[in-house]
Amino acid sequence: MNDTLEVTDLRVTFRGGLVAADGVSLRVAPEETLAVVGESGSGKTTVARCVVGLQRPDSGTLTFDGQPLGPVGRRPPELQRAIQMVFQDPRSSLNPRMPVADLIGEAWRTHPAAAPPGDRTEALHRLLADVGLDADVTGRRAGDLSGGQCQRVSIARALAVGPRLLVCDEAVSALDVSVQAQILRLLVDLRRTHRLALLFITHDLGVVHQIADRVAVMRGGAVVEEGPAGEVLGAPRHEYTQALLDAALDLGVDE
Ligand SMILES: Nc1ncnc2c1ncn2[C@@H]1O[C@H](COP(=O)(O)OP(=O)(O)OP(=O)(O)O)[C@@H](O)[C@H]1O
Ligand SMILES: [Mg+2]
Repeated sequence: MNDTLEVTDLRVTFRGGLVAADGVSLRVAPEETLAVVGESGSGKTTVARCVVGLQRPDSGTLTFDGQPLGPVGRRPPELQRAIQMVFQDPRSSLNPRMPVADLIGEAWRTHPAAAPPGDRTEALHRLLADVGLDADVTGRRAGDLSGGQCQRVSIARALAVGPRLLVCDEAVSALDVSVQAQILRLLVDLRRTHRLALLFITHDLGVVHQIADRVAVMRGGAVVEEGPAGEVLGAPRHEYTQALLDAALDLGVDE
């Protein structure tokens, strides 16, 4: 099937024998959002890193559009472009000294096939408008922007190369609650306008219903429950999912 991410029986063991992924299987269809939730240490980032090719699994297969997904450096350029990642902390994933125009330009240098053929300034301004930033941020350095603006730049940089799947690892967790809501809305909009699939990783069940079509619940390196968001959040089958929901309600984050 076109543009579908398929992860099958993924296993990752770290030195010392810690099993971070213990037979994980996931599927993300084109333009679909799968939320992966679970407590700290459940293996969410490990799975994300395998998907973007930063972590090599011990066994299991990963494919996108039927093509095998190896380590990022061995992926053909169009496959590298197709899967982009947005990290939790934009302040550490963006060079604070680089102006926004150069940060986006860097993405186009890495992937010349994705660079706009004509006027780059116009393409840059269009991209910034897509993520809700004014054209006047182009000359500002990442270090001088707010956390929310930085995360918008990270998203613009990912979009610059024309991805089909965006892997967001706790992409809103470091932001203030009001900014969190804005970035979530932006992702929901971009998903539609740019026809993106999202692998949305979060420990925060409170944000899942705003964005996810389906939810996979991870615990101890394994997926314990998976299904449509309404079903998993509304009538969880696994006691661990129920415990996560209860914890979210206790914190008041589900209001
Ligand atoms: N490079 C590594 N070397 C050794 N152990 C690691 C490494 N990376 C992760 N781990 C361990 O693997 C397990 C899964 O970690 P992972 O980062 O995937 O969890 P997570 O669900 O993303 O947690 P969090 O919500 O805190 O981000 C944890 O026990 C973690 O300590
Ligand atoms: Mg993590």
